[in-house]
Amino acid sequence: GGADMPVVIAILNAYAGLAAVAMGFVLDNKLLITAGALDGSSGLILSIIMCKAMNRSFANVLFGAFGQVQTGPAGKVDAKPVKSATNEEAASILANSNLVVVIPGYGMAVAQAQHKVRELHDVLAKKGVRMVFAIHPVAGRMPGHMNVLLAEADVPYDKLLEMEEANSELPEADVALVIGANDVTNPAARHDTNSPVYGMPIIDVDKAHVVMVIKRSIFPGNAAATTELYTMDKTLMLFGDAKAVVTELVKEVGAAE
Ligand code: TAP
Repeated sequence: GGADMPVVIAILNAYAGLAAVAMGFVLDNKLLITAGALDGSSGLILSIIMCKAMNRSFANVLFGAFGQVQTGPAGKVDAKPVKSATNEEAASILANSNLVVVIPGYGMAVAQAQHKVRELHDVLAKKGVRMVFAIHPVAGRMPGHMNVLLAEADVPYDKLLEMEEANSELPEADVALVIGANDVTNPAARHDTNSPVYGMPIIDVDKAHVVMVIKRSIFPGNAAATTELYTMDKTLMLFGDAKAVVTELVKEVGAAE
């Protein structure tokens, strides 16, 4: 699938390093051998780290999609009803929270919502709300994707929490605000042995008091795994493009008492 491309690119990069090593031997050039070996090994290590974080084997990432025919929309959709909230309702809950944990994902990158997310952080900080960011190692489509986007938006580095640290804070969080993420928050990864994401470490958003999810539909993400998170009693869906919804939240939080 398209999201496996970063792994494939890292492997091709490793091959380029190996080719450089071979060239180094032919030309008797020690510098080329050393540089090629570094390039080759780092590409391979990066590919293995990405596969581990996705809980997939190397072979599955490389060859798993061969021979599969995709029919209809990607994945299944849960038939249970979901609760949606207006931006005004969501903003009022956010403004009255102590701790908000944001979980950004691929959708935030697509919508280029990171600057608006930073504005939401600032406007909530003015109201005394602590907002931190939980970064899953494979959120988005390449290593460090979320870190780069949030750094571009000048989100303070100390507000970015790694998965384990974020998971220890989430039971205390008033709101887990999922922005365009899906697989990295899917509780099915913990218990559903039939789920494509089974076994992948996830961010425990379902442990927060309230879960808000910003996305355009209830369709699944990259792994095409049904997400039970959306039908939980404590979950409020905020349907729409991430940038548009966060822009509204900033306005509403600013106006909230
Ligand atoms: P995904 O599971 O792919 O979910 C992204 C979600 O964003 C989708 O469900 C989509 O829902 C939503 N979205 C798309 N455009 C949007 C928009 N404009 N506004 C709001 N929402 C939007 O992403 P994730 O949770 O970040 O997980 C990453 C996936 O990529 C994992 O499966 C991971 O294994 C895989 N992967 C990652 C990497 C690295 S290194 N990061 C490498 C290879 C593979 P709607 O369509 O309903 O809006």
